[in-house]
Amino acid sequence: MALSDFDLVLFGGGGDLAMRKLLPAMYARDRGNDLPATARILCIGRHDWTTEQFLEAVEKNSKPHVKGESLDEKSWTSFCKRIVYVKMDGSDAATYSALAAALRNDPKITRVFYLATPPSLFATICNNLSQAGLATPESRVVLEKPLGRDLASAKQINAEVGRVFSESQIFRIDHYLGKEAVQNLLALRFGNVMFEPLWRRDWISDVQITIAEEIGIGSRAGYYDTSGALRDMLQNHLLQLLCIVAMEPPVCIEPNAVRDEKLKVLRSLKAFTPTTLRQNVIRGQYRGGHVQGTEVPSYRKEPGANPNSRTETFVALKAEIDSWRWTGVPFYLRTGKRMADSLAEIVVRFKPLPHSIFAQSASSQPNCLVIRLQPDEGLQLNLMAKIPGDGMRLKPVELELDFRETFKMPRMEAYERLLLDVLRGQLTLFMRSDELEAAWEWVEPILKYWEEEEVEPMPYTSGTWGPAAASALIGRDGLQWREEALPEN
Ligand code: BG6
Repeated sequence: MALSDFDLVLFGGGGDLAMRKLLPAMYARDRGNDLPATARILCIGRHDWTTEQFLEAVEKNSKPHVKGESLDEKSWTSFCKRIVYVKMDGSDAATYSALAAALRNDPKITRVFYLATPPSLFATICNNLSQAGLATPESRVVLEKPLGRDLASAKQINAEVGRVFSESQIFRIDHYLGKEAVQNLLALRFGNVMFEPLWRRDWISDVQITIAEEIGIGSRAGYYDTSGALRDMLQNHLLQLLCIVAMEPPVCIEPNAVRDEKLKVLRSLKAFTPTTLRQNVIRGQYRGGHVQGTEVPSYRKEPGANPNSRTETFVALKAEIDSWRWTGVPFYLRTGKRMADSLAEIVVRFKPLPHSIFAQSASSQPNCLVIRLQPDEGLQLNLMAKIPGDGMRLKPVELELDFRETFKMPRMEAYERLLLDVLRGQLTLFMRSDELEAAWEWVEPILKYWEEEEVEPMPYTSGTWGPAAASALIGRDGLQWREEALPEN
């Protein structure tokens, strides 16, 4: 669907997210000929700059984030002509006249306000937009995470933004939902008949979802030290992946059909009590070590981090879903920084054969479907096959689907897809207010317990897969994390 002309307003236009992700994503879509000729990007900032001066910052801070192979000087220059710098202060209502003067006043032109700012400014900006008469019924607002730090603050954001914009105008971003492989999971589940009959407790033994990063917290201590892995990754990205794996087939791909099903999953997650969370939730923090051969410091020695910080950089937990489809199937979720490898994957393990007719039943391995999100996107299905030759000897083999190889098409970054969806008004890949609140409701007892009991995170050496207790968590059920189960090279 071709886009209509638009004014995309970036609050936090000179900030890290705009420079590293949003402007490069818009450039990529411009280069892909998706943007109408007169569409514009209005970047808001408080510096007393002209557009020319702002573009110097874009050249320095944003252009290096455009992927080498897709950068082309001519198209970059023409993309920059779309950018207009607007000097104003989002928290000061008196300065909104500058934005009013810069925006085109035509209801046919899509107006999007992208709030790439701290969430403490969301309500103020929305109110100021409303008072200045800029939040028209056709306009849209995009909210970046963190969308709150607990249930109460998420509710407050929803209520305050909701006073100005209706739910159908609000786009809450979780960039994991924009990843190609996540959408492929929808295609896999609901575009094929063969998985759905097996996709349930009768045939699936357990599901593992891992997002592991080699990077540490870099220069983000200010944010991260007050957040931690549970808030930063699990409450949003991992739970969204879990929803897509576990949801019932929606009646169609329309936003509310999909979001209703995701909400049901969140609401069927078994609530933790202090006893069950002591057994099923592992909290870790990295110490110094080596990641891919490079020495890295302990979390507490990262620039800006509190030297006595109890913030977790790793969390692993066992979740259970109380529903006809999933009761009894553990979902192990895990995420951490400074891990042994950078990868994101979903592992669906099927049950063992009910009965083997082959003598070597001991070597039979249950089928396993691995959905890889990162670093490369693909699918792997492990099956048993006969070893050629005499005798009936079986061996596990892999069916591989590498999306890059199969489609030989340029990949779209998550932000490219999500920005296009915002500009089209397509809400399917964005979180609804009730989903956001249900996710916070489920993680809140963990946050509270850690805080009230002053739970120390378990130390783990950088460059490993986290505290040994994470292996024990899954080992207790007679299972292993996938990397532990793989044969050594
Ligand atoms: C962000 C988190 O939402 O996701 C970061 O705030 C994290 O801490 C990032 O590094 C991971 O995203 P991706 O797409 O690089 O896996």
